[in-house]
Amino acid sequence: MISAHRFLTQPPESWDDATLARMERAFFNDLVLPSGATKSTEAGRLATVDAFFLDQIQPTGLSPRRFLDVAVSSGITTDEWLSSLHTALGETAGLSMTGSDLTPKAWLVEFPLGLRVLVDRAMRPLQFDLGGLAWSGACRRPSHYLTGCPVWRALARGLWGRVTAELSLAGKFPLTADRPLVCLGGRVTVREVSLLSRRLRHGAVLRVEEEDLMAPGFPEWAGAFDVIRVANLLHPCYFPLERLKQGLEVLARRLHAPGGLLLLARTVEARGAPPRNEATLFRLDEAGRLVAAGRLNGGVEVEPLVLALAPIFR
Ligand SMILES: C[S@@+](CC[C@H](N)C(=O)[O-])C[C@H]1O[C@@H](n2cnc3c(N)ncnc32)[C@H](O)[C@@H]1O
Repeated sequence: MISAHRFLTQPPESWDDATLARMERAFFNDLVLPSGATKSTEAGRLATVDAFFLDQIQPTGLSPRRFLDVAVSSGITTDEWLSSLHTALGETAGLSMTGSDLTPKAWLVEFPLGLRVLVDRAMRPLQFDLGGLAWSGACRRPSHYLTGCPVWRALARGLWGRVTAELSLAGKFPLTADRPLVCLGGRVTVREVSLLSRRLRHGAVLRVEEEDLMAPGFPEWAGAFDVIRVANLLHPCYFPLERLKQGLEVLARRLHAPGGLLLLARTVEARGAPPRNEATLFRLDEAGRLVAAGRLNGGVEVEPLVLALAPIFR
């Protein structure tokens, strides 16, 4: 696994484009989040969803301006969506794209003797690194079990738990960049690192906020977006029904009324077949209800939940 320290703290210009792309792909593929999901997002994964969205809005003459992409992961598919919107609607269309994700950033805790631990906001370890030898702490392949991975993992997590308790770090998150601490006579540095792709074309205009959709913040986002997209997050595999409904209600309240558009998508990956995107575009009508305006490949599985939401009134 590529060390977060090596990859995230060097300027992207340190590598040529092809090397950076290869390293980034490997790094995100191996980074396992506490939920068990990886941070990987394939470039081009949502291309058919982007095209579907344009097919839906172009004949209507609508020109939405304020976009929110929820669960952007590394931001690659958000960046591609922006490119497709710019190409179709013109660079001067004055679009604003906000992104959100549970884990858009992490913290690199650096101890003496070359020990580094990449952690999330709750101080859960995402990567252990000893002198550049990095490990996510996850046991993902059958071969990992043969090398005693679960034992190493339990050991590493146990030790990390003791270290965090000893340092009394837990209550100190969120951390600020480059915060010096002293531990066992040595200097411990904590620095914030972005988990967004370093190859985003529109990185300068894309604003990505940290948010758990199930514990939402940003009250100022109520009614603030013409279009909200959520791809590969709101699915019964990941959340129980009540949580799904709760997340959908949050999204509905963030749409401009009437006429705001909610685009839900899911990439279906069946063994032996190429990935296939399913999507439904919903429109917030005058009565405050979300109605289906278009479907790609049959629409998303959670469509009945969306259609059954109580009307949104402000
Ligand atoms: C599979 S990626 C989806 C990336 C992108 N939308 C796509 O389809 O290519 C899932 C992302 O959801 C984020 N996530 C998981 N739970 C979340 C939550 N409760 N609120 C916001 N984001 C969440 C994860 O951090 C991860 O980056």
